[in-house]
Amino acid sequence: MYKSVIRPLLFQFDPEKVHYFTFDALRILAKIPGISSFLKNKFQREDKRLEREVFGIKFKNPVGLAAGFDKDAKLYKELDSLGFGFIEIGTVTPKAQSGNEKTRLFRLKEDNAIINRMGFNNEGVKAAVSRLRKNKDVLIGGNIGKNKITPNEDAVNDYVICFDALFDHVDYFVVNVSSPNTPNLRALQDKEPLKKLLNTLQIKNKSRENSKPILLKIAPDLTEEQLLDIIEIVNETGIAGVIATNTTISREGLTSENKKEMGGMSGKPLKNRSTEVIRFLSQNSNQSFPIIGVGGIHSAKDAVEKIEAGASLVQLYTGFIYEGPALIKSINEAILAKGL
Ligand code: FNR
Repeated sequence: MYKSVIRPLLFQFDPEKVHYFTFDALRILAKIPGISSFLKNKFQREDKRLEREVFGIKFKNPVGLAAGFDKDAKLYKELDSLGFGFIEIGTVTPKAQSGNEKTRLFRLKEDNAIINRMGFNNEGVKAAVSRLRKNKDVLIGGNIGKNKITPNEDAVNDYVICFDALFDHVDYFVVNVSSPNTPNLRALQDKEPLKKLLNTLQIKNKSRENSKPILLKIAPDLTEEQLLDIIEIVNETGIAGVIATNTTISREGLTSENKKEMGGMSGKPLKNRSTEVIRFLSQNSNQSFPIIGVGGIHSAKDAVEKIEAGASLVQLYTGFIYEGPALIKSINEAILAKGL
């Protein structure tokens, strides 16, 4: 139904407008009595064998929604009813910002991909907190970043502001230094600034009564040498794990005309590189920290590949847009069938 009817219709329109339209539609639909339980029945797969404990948190299943879809924590409850095991909100920044000029989101239909240069458009961390206060039982990751106008020398402060504001409202944190759409952000992935950033957050974290897992989200464009540095930094700072990967600046293997657009590319053509990064991190760290695998998962097989490469959990974004919510259940069923 999604791929044969809904998707062809939605794909007629501007991608960003469709995003807000489906958002509103899902919110309104979920308010109709009975719809929420219909969605749950149709899409959720509940089974004890899907439960995982990763970095000290119990997940009801290992398939999550990646950051960027519900940036402002507006729809986590409705998205949860589609069967996700966890929802990552953000990237949020201390102050609201409008992001880059439109048009900034492009479908690459022939390639089953997306290019985006949204630039952390979000309503600011306080707005997200006000919505998360109402959360009862959805497992939430808080993905944090810096405002565009904040120079890199002051970036740590932005991450600390978001960390403090979100602390009581999320289950884990993600430090995003890997978006290609905020100028110079990825320079924070370099050894010294990254150590400083993670150490500062860890000191804040440890000063709390119950510290929370902090994960680092990395780009797929890092070299092997840089990935070895990441392993060293994760072990040295004692953060809880890594999310691999964000979108890529590579355009390898693309055929769609939109490939010329600037921004980060996600979807099928990212799959192999992202899995390679997961495998490299897993093997070279002796599995000393958990990895959340994300990038190009469009089928249950793609998700299984990521888990077999070393991911403890997986996340979807572009595959969710192209394949629809049935993908979540089919991944969970494949995990059960494989006994993973
Ligand atoms: C993203 N992604 C993203 N990641 C992040 O950490 N913070 C963000 O704000 C966003 N925003 C965002 C917007 C859009 C439109 C897309 C398509 C993606 C990256 C996302 O979470 C994921 O890491 C990549 O898209 C790779 O996974 P998929 O899309 O190939 O499943």
